[in-house]
Amino acid sequence: MYNVRKVTEDITWVGASDRRLALFENIFPIKRGVSYNAYVLKDEKTVLLDTVDASVAGQFFENLEFVLGDSKLDYLVVNHMEPDHCAMIGDIVRRYPDVKIIGNTKTFGMMTQFFGTDFSDRSVVVKEGDTLSTGKHTLHFVMAPMVHWPEAMVTYDDADKVLFSADGFGTFGALNGNIFADEVDFDRDWLDDARRYYTNIVGKYGASVQALLKKAAGLDIAVICPLHGPVWRENLGYILEKYQKWSTYEAEDQAVVIMYASMYGNTASAADALAGALAVRGIKKIAVYDVSNTHVSELISEIFRASHLVFAVPTYNGGIYPIMENLLSDMKALAVQKKTVAVMENGTWAPTAAKQVREKISELKDMTILDTQVTVKSAMHAEQQKDLDVLADAIVGTL
Ligand code: FEO
Repeated sequence: MYNVRKVTEDITWVGASDRRLALFENIFPIKRGVSYNAYVLKDEKTVLLDTVDASVAGQFFENLEFVLGDSKLDYLVVNHMEPDHCAMIGDIVRRYPDVKIIGNTKTFGMMTQFFGTDFSDRSVVVKEGDTLSTGKHTLHFVMAPMVHWPEAMVTYDDADKVLFSADGFGTFGALNGNIFADEVDFDRDWLDDARRYYTNIVGKYGASVQALLKKAAGLDIAVICPLHGPVWRENLGYILEKYQKWSTYEAEDQAVVIMYASMYGNTASAADALAGALAVRGIKKIAVYDVSNTHVSELISEIFRASHLVFAVPTYNGGIYPIMENLLSDMKALAVQKKTVAVMENGTWAPTAAKQVREKISELKDMTILDTQVTVKSAMHAEQQKDLDVLADAIVGTL
């Protein structure tokens, strides 16, 4: 059965959701599923904006056929060549043999890499500022390099003031009939997944996102149509403000996130004791995570959100406990910046993790590492409460 929704009189969502996939990109758990959005513009000419992942091909084509009806498909705009959106290009060409494909130079280079053809018999190569008139509507093509792939671009329809934003403003989460952000409680139910999606997939490319946001500021945008998650047609300032913060690595919340690794529970106990010491000093909404039991993508999301981070780490084989080391590497890969950091360490005979964690954190931009730290030898005991108090005071002093 088809499942489509009108975004405007002439633009229809023809995407689909996958609630069976366990890991997006074979990395990220998606308990709430994911949607792959595609859109059809019906004007004097018809335009499909992006395709979908192969997993939802059946639903997508049912939707597309329903919306097109007796119309032929004139154009396919490829805003992004990652396979979760471009997988159906070959099928589109087979089903709609007259279709022309619009992309930039890099788009068609990637088509050759993925598909062995750049569809040169039907390609329309566009560059920054080029337009396509479809009748009543004019599509403007805006390059968005490295958001988060080099060929990425966005498309703006000046008639309905719609920005087709590619992965920008996307989020994990299946769409449940309510395809518009104003039809759901986005802040309660979607924001964490939106942040996790952005920070883990686009987080490294803050400068590129900033460049795109500056271009977008010059457009009169009423609707944002991303390739994943809800469509924005109200309160655009809400999501734009989030993107402004995330892409400049500014914390959303003045908050403390404590992340510990613990082999036998002793480092966990010390981390909990610090959380308690902070709480009695009036700090609210403290978050504590066991890095061994929390997916790294959730930790990265929390790291972007909060202003203050505490790492509590056992020494392991003379180095940093491996799962914590992986988290620190991911932080570097995703360009985490502008945090205040405190370190706790544990070691039974030669604790050295704190020094090594500090070195790794100092490789990141604009990080403040507190001088005060706590060293635990095997397990923390009551006489070390004063050490915790000193560390808690130091953290509170910077909040
Ligand atoms: Fe949703 Fe970069 O692909």
